[in-house]
Amino acid sequence: MAKAKAVYFCTECGNETIKWQGQCPVCGAWNTIVEAPPARSAAKHPSPSRKQSGGAVKLTDVDISDAEVRFFTGLKEFDRVLGGGAVIGSVVLVGGDPGIGKSTLLLQLCGNLATAKHGGKVLYVSGEESERQLKLRADRLGASGDAIYVLAESNLSEILTQYNALSPEVIIIDSIQTLYDDEIDNAPGSVTQVKDCAMKLTRLAKSEGVTVFIVGHVNKEGAIAGPKVLEHMVDCVLYFEGERTAGYRLLRAAKNRFGSANEIGVFEMTGNGLADVPNPSETLLSGRPQNAPGSCVTCLMEGSRPLLAEIQALASPTNSANPRRTFTGIDWNRAALLLAVLEKRGSLRLGTNDVFINAVGGITADEPAADLAVILALTSGYLDRPLGDDLIALGEVGLAGELRGNADMERRLTEAARLGFKRAVIPARGKGKLRPPEGVRLIEVNTVREAISAVLGNGGNS
Ligand code: TYD
Ligand code: MG
Repeated sequence: MAKAKAVYFCTECGNETIKWQGQCPVCGAWNTIVEAPPARSAAKHPSPSRKQSGGAVKLTDVDISDAEVRFFTGLKEFDRVLGGGAVIGSVVLVGGDPGIGKSTLLLQLCGNLATAKHGGKVLYVSGEESERQLKLRADRLGASGDAIYVLAESNLSEILTQYNALSPEVIIIDSIQTLYDDEIDNAPGSVTQVKDCAMKLTRLAKSEGVTVFIVGHVNKEGAIAGPKVLEHMVDCVLYFEGERTAGYRLLRAAKNRFGSANEIGVFEMTGNGLADVPNPSETLLSGRPQNAPGSCVTCLMEGSRPLLAEIQALASPTNSANPRRTFTGIDWNRAALLLAVLEKRGSLRLGTNDVFINAVGGITADEPAADLAVILALTSGYLDRPLGDDLIALGEVGLAGELRGNADMERRLTEAARLGFKRAVIPARGKGKLRPPEGVRLIEVNTVREAISAVLGNGGNS
């Protein structure tokens, strides 16, 4: 190939030639052709610098010493989602709605890293807030330390220059949509800019071993705005979710090259930033009204973690021709289906009632295992008869009113037993298949109707 043989290039336009000339044949500039230095390709791409030559190596020869592979973020729930701490040299993308707490989470991470004994420098780059605003927020979060550097900048080459000057171990980019590379004409946030900036940051992470956390805005559909390739490029994609008004936030892994993609972390937004919620079931049930009608607890599986959640329902008679249907934390179609089943198989006259269903605590109960709890909460609310505080309901409801079991039944029941639940309504199973944890009595039923009469008497059939 001619290119490989070229030993001269034009300093103006980069054109390569095999012999020296006075004038560049491409850009027409005079006296700009010089002999190329040996590592010419590196000279064309001065940053980020590559430490390795890029040749293939035997996998067994790749050196990793355990102590250096991961570091802790100081937030246990964050570490859990990352698969046991952040991997050095990885790129983590954190997406979420505005105001959900992405900047707060990452600023807290800075504070924790800066105060950790062995911690190195951390560079927080914000294209959204000024240095003063960052300082105010950091003070509020108690994130301080000499090792935290802030930079209000959106020009990528300026950021890389600052990186080279500081050599931080962690860089935080808040957010990728505000960044621009001045070699490209498109506006910040455009597909080309986002892709190019993310690619350069990823290359930097891999070549320099710096860990990069990138904040990404989400679009109307809740996916990270910009090209899909952004999610392919990075090592981990995390979504920060929750009702902004409710105190709880869930950090969910959508992709993780270094751990399970099913993990979730639970945080609470307090006056001093985000706090780990190590025992989410207990916290989610903490404010539960006692012996109240219209409330039923179920157990969701969030990744490998069972999570007890309360479903509340209210049915109130109305004269309106179009009764209201308000569902929060539950899929609209799923809830509508359950209402239809209840009307048909449970003989409840919901057509003359406004119906409100709510998964308490801002969580999303989108698993079929929550179906029976929705049915029982609503029936209990409709009949104004409490289910009792020691009852948990698990099971998927079919269109014929039949009940089906779910995966991880034992783990769900164990979590219920741990928090003192004594009775569990579950779909009937063959003998010997399920070993209930101690202290929990199983109420096995085949249909919605059986479930209602087992826990609420025959009121449901009236
Ligand atoms: P923020 O981190 O700015 O969200 P994002 O970067 O995802 O847009 O979160 C801001 C919200 O968090 C804001 O509504 C106020 C709330 N908040 C607290 O409740 N306590 C705090 O200590 C902080 C810093 C923020
Ligand atoms: Mg922010």
